[in-house]
Amino acid sequence: MSLKDCYYIELPKIHNTNGNLTFIEGLNHIPFEIKRIYHLFDVPGGSERGGHAHKDLQQLIIAMSGSFDVILDDGYQKKRFHLNRSYQGLYVRTLIWRELDNFSSGSVCMVLASNLYDESDYYRNYDDFLRALTQRSKT
Ligand code: TYD
Repeated sequence: MSLKDCYYIELPKIHNTNGNLTFIEGLNHIPFEIKRIYHLFDVPGGSERGGHAHKDLQQLIIAMSGSFDVILDDGYQKKRFHLNRSYQGLYVRTLIWRELDNFSSGSVCMVLASNLYDESDYYRNYDDFLRALTQRSKT
């Protein structure tokens, strides 16, 4: 996958003077079925998260509160995405290296995932990730 396959997705929003509401349906608002949801919270200022790519997993990353940046890298180029709205997600495809930084205090990062947690689905070493990309381009 390349960076152009990763993009912001604007989620439906129901406006109400007493507060807004957003919802997400797998395969409707996002291109995959949701198998797992997790969130990062109490992230200390200056922290960096991520530093890995996935073999099969697709994700939608949302700043439920506060803001942070996601840096995506397809092995050829890198792009920084800023997330700061609970009704906007970043769609991250397979075989994309990601890093998260610039967390505001009290921020909450929610991730919708297309699969259950599986450590064998991770590339945690950047050189292994690059090697996997090279293998894929040969096949
Ligand atoms: P990781 O995916 O590396 O988090 P991040 O990308 O935010 O830095 O996961 C951090 C740790 O949590 C790692 O030891 C694996 C574990 N983990 C689970 O046990 N279940 C999960 O669903 C997730 C996402 C992580």
